[in-house]
Amino acid sequence: MLLKVFLLFVCSSFYLCSSSSSKGRTFILQKNVSVSAVFVFGDSFVDQGNNNYINTLGKGNFLPYGKDFQGGKPTGRFSNGKTLPDLLVEAFGVKDYLPASLDPLIKDKDLQTGVSFASGGSGFDPLTTAETSAIPMSVQLDMFKQHILKLKRNIKEEAADNIIDNSVAVIVAGNNDLFLSLPNRRLQYDVPSYANMIVNLVLNFIQEIYKLGVRRIAVFSAPPIGCLPVVRTLDGGPHRKCADKENNAAQLFNSFLTQQVQLWATSYPQSRVGVIDYYNPLISIIENPHKYGFDVADRGCCGTGEIEVLFLCNKLTPTCPNDSKYFFWDGFHLTEKGNSIILYHILQDLLNSLF
Ligand SMILES: *[C@@H]1O[C@H](CO)[C@@H](O)[C@H](O)[C@H]1NC(C)=O
Ligand SMILES: *[C@@H]1O[C@H](CO)[C@@H](O)[C@H](O)[C@H]1NC(C)=O
Repeated sequence: MLLKVFLLFVCSSFYLCSSSSSKGRTFILQKNVSVSAVFVFGDSFVDQGNNNYINTLGKGNFLPYGKDFQGGKPTGRFSNGKTLPDLLVEAFGVKDYLPASLDPLIKDKDLQTGVSFASGGSGFDPLTTAETSAIPMSVQLDMFKQHILKLKRNIKEEAADNIIDNSVAVIVAGNNDLFLSLPNRRLQYDVPSYANMIVNLVLNFIQEIYKLGVRRIAVFSAPPIGCLPVVRTLDGGPHRKCADKENNAAQLFNSFLTQQVQLWATSYPQSRVGVIDYYNPLISIIENPHKYGFDVADRGCCGTGEIEVLFLCNKLTPTCPNDSKYFFWDGFHLTEKGNSIILYHILQDLLNSLF
């Protein structure tokens, strides 16, 4: 059943900003911060092309994905252009793009400045990745460990430690758990107990990253999942309203997440760990698109915008005439413009949480 198939690959989100240099910067930071590297973990909101190299249906490495990326290059990023991780490393003055960890063309320099380990369809619940064949969060962590070992072989151990110490980790995951797996777990868990279970997995993940030496960690909250175009179509009734069920679950998860992460951080005064609110900025834009320069925020730019995502958004699918007027690129993911407006609105929160 086709619907079921593409439901398997939802997305998520994430990010921050920082320091010096880089020509033509879009974002001016209000704080003088210095970031050596950015390491990203999570799902399709922040997958920079890792899924191109694994056996999954959750890919975006064909047009029209990437149609505005470096003149029209599909890379596996789930957008028309730059993703939040790209805009974030640019804002931090680290580099212009964040590559995928599995990209064979990755350069030695990228070992030092960061990569994304994220995989479209991933989540903290093992059931999620069992269904989507995405790279589980635990495996993303192992990839990070290998990355650090390789870095230590390439440069002096002390220099490597210094890079990790001044790096930022970004985690954007949980959406696929809430959207895909929660309904399948309803015999075992109600919404609060499921949210609590996932939050505990997030805390373990933060702990592991901390043990590896990272001291600045941004965890993105869940977005308003019920307002993602495909979710409106499936659960929003004849008028495609935002679906309350998914939005309520996301809000409950977010309140647990915020509480628990804050509590965790009190035991680790050496760290700056924060939950970045990814829910309210999105819902504001979705409710008042014109205020933020968008014409459309209830469907994507690809095809009808109501259902097209992943392989349903392909080279035969027409796209909207001007994707800068659309907040959503496909049924789940944001346009480059959407990512950029979101980053603008969460930047201060990121800086305050991390520095
Ligand atoms: C920012 O920090 C760098 C390194 O610590 C320093 O050299 C520079 O002068 C600072 N810039 C401003 C505007 O404070
Ligand atoms: C597309 O929309 C943006 C934002 O409204 C506008 O600035 C730009 O000029 C438009 N491009 C074209 C080709 O119409």
